[in-house]
Amino acid sequence: MINGVYRKSARFYPFLLVLGICFIITTLYIQNQKASGYLSKVSSRNRVVEEQDSVQRRENLKKVLAKTHKGLVSLNELNENVYKKFGYEIISPTLPVPTLKMIKEPKCGEVFSEWQKISEQPQPEYPPKGIPAERKDEFLLYNYTAVNEWYINDKNSEKGEKPRLWDKLSEMVTWPKEKLGGLAYGTDGVSIYNAMKFHRLDGKSGVVIGSMKPWVEISALLNGAAKVLTVEYNELKIQDEFRDRMSSILPINFVKNWKIYAGTFDFAVSFSSIEHSGLGRYGDPIDPIGDIREMLKIKCILKKGGLLFLGFPLGTDAIQYNAHRIYGSVRLAMMFYGFEWLGTFSGDTEQPNDLTSERLHSKPIFGFFQNTVVLRRL
Ligand SMILES: *[C@@H]1O[C@H](CO)[C@@H](O)[C@H](O)[C@H]1NC(C)=O
Repeated sequence: MINGVYRKSARFYPFLLVLGICFIITTLYIQNQKASGYLSKVSSRNRVVEEQDSVQRRENLKKVLAKTHKGLVSLNELNENVYKKFGYEIISPTLPVPTLKMIKEPKCGEVFSEWQKISEQPQPEYPPKGIPAERKDEFLLYNYTAVNEWYINDKNSEKGEKPRLWDKLSEMVTWPKEKLGGLAYGTDGVSIYNAMKFHRLDGKSGVVIGSMKPWVEISALLNGAAKVLTVEYNELKIQDEFRDRMSSILPINFVKNWKIYAGTFDFAVSFSSIEHSGLGRYGDPIDPIGDIREMLKIKCILKKGGLLFLGFPLGTDAIQYNAHRIYGSVRLAMMFYGFEWLGTFSGDTEQPNDLTSERLHSKPIFGFFQNTVVLRRL
């Protein structure tokens, strides 16, 4: 009897096993369903958050205003009508200079080969008097920059500047900063010296873009720099005793050999040069973004964390064709892409000044002041 019961229940064992397995599978399946339902809810919630974020960002950009010759305009307007057309987008509504990202940053190889292609195009005998009609929108930032005429021909003029003082370097190292900086304009040039004194260059190796008289190079050496390479359209006769620290190269040779220099410099300096790039005044090719190309080139040759000392006219965005550009909130944002802005120096004080919107726009339209901004390559 006992035996019989035992045998009877034993027959159910396989059945129980199958039932158990079914139960486990069903449980796992239900849990999995729950989990994936949860995940899809999370991802759709993320999508909603992202959409809300972008709406929120747009709303924020509408509230932040920058000054142009048209008056105050919203960063959203600049984002849509200027930055996106040049391939940038605002990532943070900072003032006086919005922070941008480049939608598709060109590789260094493209930056240099484009520059070379443009520089090898034949140029007119005289610098053009007006902005080429088909490039007007680009030159004028789609009308967000003021424009007037101020024609200068530095290509064919007899009194065009020639390199000077490259044989007087041992004398120049004894000059006070006022005399060195005075070789530029009044006290403006001293801003370079002040900036280099604040951000010392001890043992560093740097490059100077465009230089007739070696006051920038000497300012760098006096503030600790170990080596300076000058990129200049004229051949320079450097005093013998300084050849261990100073050298020069023509722009075309520099660009052809860019790979040698890529990512190698601790610092770069450009004073009163970049604002002319692309306007044709010096016989250079007409290029609405000549100055922005220079910034991309400089970014390529600097080490990560390397410093750029940049002296140029600041004010409300304007172009005085073909004399120069004046840099305000709109164009500075594109110029500063890929860099962090560390400080701004005038010739009057050794301490950096706070370049607020108020100060940047303190002059009337076409008015400007020349300062040195210090940028760190990101
Ligand atoms: C800029 O202004 C000029 C003349 O005032 C006009 O012809 C041109 O269409 C404007 N460009 C844009 C992008 O609004």
